[in-house]
Amino acid sequence: MVGTQWGDEGKGRFTDLLSKGSSMVVRYQGGHNAGHTIVVNGQSYALQLIPSGVVWDHVTCVIGNGVVIDPLVLLAELDGLVARGVDAFDRLVVSGNAHLILPYHQQLDALTERHLGKNKLGTTKRGIGPAYADKAQRVGIRVQDLLDSRIFKEKLSLVLKEKNAVLTRVYNRLPIDLDDLVERYLGEVAPRVGPLVGDSVNVVHDALAGGQEVLLEGAQATFLDLDHGTYPFVTSSNPVAGGACTGAGIGPRDISRVVGVAKAYVTRVGAGPFPTELTGTDEGELMVDRGHEFGTNTGRRRRPGWFDAVMLRHAVRLNSLSEVALTKLDVLDAFSSVKVCVAYEVRGRRVDHLPYHQSDLHDAVPVYEELPGWGTDLTDATEVHQLAGRARDYVDFLAEQVGVPIHLVGVGPGREQYVDLGVG
Ligand code: GDP
Ligand code: IMO
Ligand code: MG
Repeated sequence: MVGTQWGDEGKGRFTDLLSKGSSMVVRYQGGHNAGHTIVVNGQSYALQLIPSGVVWDHVTCVIGNGVVIDPLVLLAELDGLVARGVDAFDRLVVSGNAHLILPYHQQLDALTERHLGKNKLGTTKRGIGPAYADKAQRVGIRVQDLLDSRIFKEKLSLVLKEKNAVLTRVYNRLPIDLDDLVERYLGEVAPRVGPLVGDSVNVVHDALAGGQEVLLEGAQATFLDLDHGTYPFVTSSNPVAGGACTGAGIGPRDISRVVGVAKAYVTRVGAGPFPTELTGTDEGELMVDRGHEFGTNTGRRRRPGWFDAVMLRHAVRLNSLSEVALTKLDVLDAFSSVKVCVAYEVRGRRVDHLPYHQSDLHDAVPVYEELPGWGTDLTDATEVHQLAGRARDYVDFLAEQVGVPIHLVGVGPGREQYVDLGVG
C-alpha cells in the first residue's frame, strides 16, 4: 500500500480493510510523522507507528528495519491500544535494526526548522530528518542497542558529544545529560521494548515461505519521497514501493501487487509546490470542511486542490502500481462540478509528464477537464450499482487518465464504507 500524492490519502483505512485476508502487516519506512486513521464500528484509531492491521486479532504486526522509532511513542501507542481492548504486545515484532529517534533528534528538527525561518519545510518536528541523517552518517543508535547497556551507553556518550556541541554552540541551548538519558532509556524503556525485538526479516520471509499473504504498509507518499518527491519539501525516507524492499528486507520479486492509494482530490500539509492547489476559494474551503482536512498527527490544516492526473501517472511509474484505491469520493458529493488536471502548461508549452525540474514544476499551470457533479449522497453505497451515473463517470475518467484500474472506492471513513469495483 503506497501513498500516491502528498500523504493522508487514506492508506490506513484500506490497509485495515485488506488486512482481513492477510496474516501479517509490515510498516517499512517513516516514523511517527505518520498518522493513519481507521474507523471500525464507530471507533476511531489514529496510528503512528503500529501497522494498520492491528485491530484484527489474526494479524501479526511488524515494524521493519526501514522505520525510525521513538520508543516512548511506540510504548504509549501500545498502551493506548490495550486500554481500548486491542492487545498487540504479543503480536508485534520490532526490527532490531530499526533506528531510534532520541530526544536530540526532535529538538534538532524543531531548531533547524526555526533556523530556516520563512523557508522552513513545515516538518512534523518528530525528529525524522535528524534520525535518518544519523543513520546515513553511521552514528545512529538502533533498537538492538537498547538490549546491551554497555553498548548503548558507549554509543550515546560518543554521539552526545557532537549533539551537545551543536545544541549549545550553534543553537544556544542547554546540553542533554548523558546519565539522565541512559537511566531513562535503560531503566524504563529497554525492559518493555526488549521482548518486542526480533529478526523481522526472517519473520517476514518465513510467512512468505509458508504461503501467507503479507501486506506492506507505506507511510507518507510518493511525492514526499526523498528521491522522487518535491525536494527539499519531502520527508527523509523512501515511501515508494521500492522502499518496501529495503525497509522490510525483501526483494522486488517478492511483491505481487502494488496498490496506490489516492484521494479523489489532493491535499498537502507542510510547505512545497502544489500545482492544483485551491487557495482562498470556496471550493477549497468546502473540501477542507467536508473532508475534515486537519492533520491526524499535528492538527494542521491541509492545503486542498483538485485531483492531479499528471502526478498520478508519474506515481504509477515510480511504484509500478497494479491498481489504485480511491478514497473520499463522498467528499465531492456536494460539488456542482469537479475538475481534473490532465496536463500542465509550462511557459506556454503543454506537458503530459511531471517536469523533473523544480522551476518547471513551480511554473506549471494545470490544464483542467471539468466534469458535472453527481448531486447524490454516496456515503451508504456498498454495491457497484449504487456508484452509478456521474459519480461512476468521474471514477472511470480518473482511471482512464491514470492508466491503471481503480479497484476500491472509499465513500466514508468507516471500514465498510467502500465499493469494490473489481480489478480489470
Ligand atoms: P493516511 O495517512 O493515508 O492513512 O490517511 P489519514 O488517516 O491521515 O487521513 C485520511 C482521513 O480520511 C482519515 O480521517 C480517514 O478516516 C478519512 N477517510 C479515509 N477514507 C475516507 C473516505 O472514503 N471518505 C471519507 N469521508 N473519509 C475517509
Ligand atoms: P501519512 O503517513 C502528510 C510531511 C510534513 C512535511 C514533510 C516533512 O499520515 O500520510 P517530516 O516530519 O517527515 O520531516 O516532514 O512531510 N509529512 C506528511 N504529510 N502525511 C504524512 O504521513 C506525513 N509525514 C510527513 O508535513 O511537509
Ligand atoms: Mg495521515
